[in-house]
Amino acid sequence: MIAIAGIAGSLRQGSYNRALLRAAAELMPEGAVMNVLSIDAVPLYHGDVEAQGIPTPIATLKQALAGAAGLVLVTPEYNNGIPGVLKNAIDWMSRPAADIPRVFGGKSVALLGATPGGGGTILAQVAWLPVLRVLRMKLWTAQGPFYVSGAAKVFDASGLIDAELRERLRKYMAAFVEHVRAQAG
Ligand code: FNR
Repeated sequence: MIAIAGIAGSLRQGSYNRALLRAAAELMPEGAVMNVLSIDAVPLYHGDVEAQGIPTPIATLKQALAGAAGLVLVTPEYNNGIPGVLKNAIDWMSRPAADIPRVFGGKSVALLGATPGGGGTILAQVAWLPVLRVLRMKLWTAQGPFYVSGAAKVFDASGLIDAELRERLRKYMAAFVEHVRAQAG
């Protein structure tokens, strides 16, 4: 069984990005599971707090990601960049830096995002590139980027309702899992 970790970068209950991650988890192929990791309990990064030890919610997230074969990162876009809550969570998880190879290193990442706007989180996804590079992650690009624009039309309270998008997501997740499986040998 291939275990993939999933992180969505919004704290909002009705978040489109959380809903997109939930849909990805539902649409995982046979032989793979998605472990959806919550960033709700992540405090603001604080070096003095770190000096006293990594807080339990961060240690838990690090452990979960370290045990996963790949990562699905679902990013909102704020002011054409990365939302602070998501960057903050990843920043905490990168501490101490000596753990980066164990937690992130060499791991394949599928990057997706949803917005009610027309740009589909293009700029937020680009803004992740230098972060993924320094974390030594491998951005999976074989199927191209996964953008969801006009989110209000394709999600409702039950989740992702657009049949075409669900089918595209199902194929995207299947291809990502196939890639991760091939990498794992
Ligand atoms: C936004 N939003 C937004 N959307 C976008 O496509 N490009 C952008 O640059 C921004 N900028 C932005 C800044 C700030 C501070 C907020 C709060 C929002 C809108 C954003 O896409 C929208 O709120 C989404 O619904 C956020 O994602 P979740 O919470 O639905 O997952």
